Amino acid sequence: MAVGIFDSGLGGLTVLQAVTERLPDVPVVYLGDNAHTPYGTRDADDIYDLTTKGVSRLFEAGCDLVILACNTASAAALRRMQESWVPTDKRVLGVFVPLIEALTQRDWGDNSPPREVSVKHVALFATPATVRSRAFQRELAFRAVGVDVEAQACAGVVDAIEEGDMILAEALVKSHVEALKRKMPEPDAAVLGCTHYPIVEEYFRVALGDGVTVFSQPDLVAASLANYLERRPEMKGSGTVSMFLTTGDPARVSDQATRFLRRRIDFHAA
Ligand code: DGL
Repeated sequence: MAVGIFDSGLGGLTVLQAVTERLPDVPVVYLGDNAHTPYGTRDADDIYDLTTKGVSRLFEAGCDLVILACNTASAAALRRMQESWVPTDKRVLGVFVPLIEALTQRDWGDNSPPREVSVKHVALFATPATVRSRAFQRELAFRAVGVDVEAQACAGVVDAIEEGDMILAEALVKSHVEALKRKMPEPDAAVLGCTHYPIVEEYFRVALGDGVTVFSQPDLVAASLANYLERRPEMKGSGTVSMFLTTGDPARVSDQATRFLRRRIDFHAA
């Protein structure tokens, strides 16, 4: 049994960390497509091609269930994959559902009409491709009314994190939050809509200031996965060992991952 976790690079490690804390006995195969990161500046066809390639590799590694721990892939490719590509005995899930459930405080399966929710002014921070897809606003509109969403495409932040340049990442986060606040001076909630951003969550919190509820995905996704596996234990798959795979340079990616997770991580070539 092994669950696959896929991201364009290192960001999905934030989800992996929360999953291994919550489900320590479930082996996880992580695949980072570091050779092609960032996805956020690519077009939807490109993201679809890269994501299906990565997910196929995880199927080969014995994963029947793969989490796209990447908002960009979830926004630009997941629906198309689920409609026409995912084999019937496999599942691919994204990271939007748990986030929207938390924000609207209603279950995904609740098909009642959209209603008022407690948040009113939501700041969405995400990659350019996720912002362009408007997937977040679309899913939210099915469930909630009266929510004003202002999106900020955070160009450069993923590259800075992948490069390990945290000084640049901090400066970029600060300027993106300032840009957002010029459009929406008083958000009551902020969504970190990219799995890389929890690595720099503190920079977002400081720049946003007090009084803004920050929705960050790792714990929400881990809780949702635990719930799913309780209902569908057979989806744990046939793999039995945890592994870290990358399409990039394993030594370099291992060093970065070790720094982020503060424990030794050894990546292998995918
Ligand atoms: N971590 C990803 C996300 O959640 C992708 C970032 C990127 O590759 O641009 O959107």
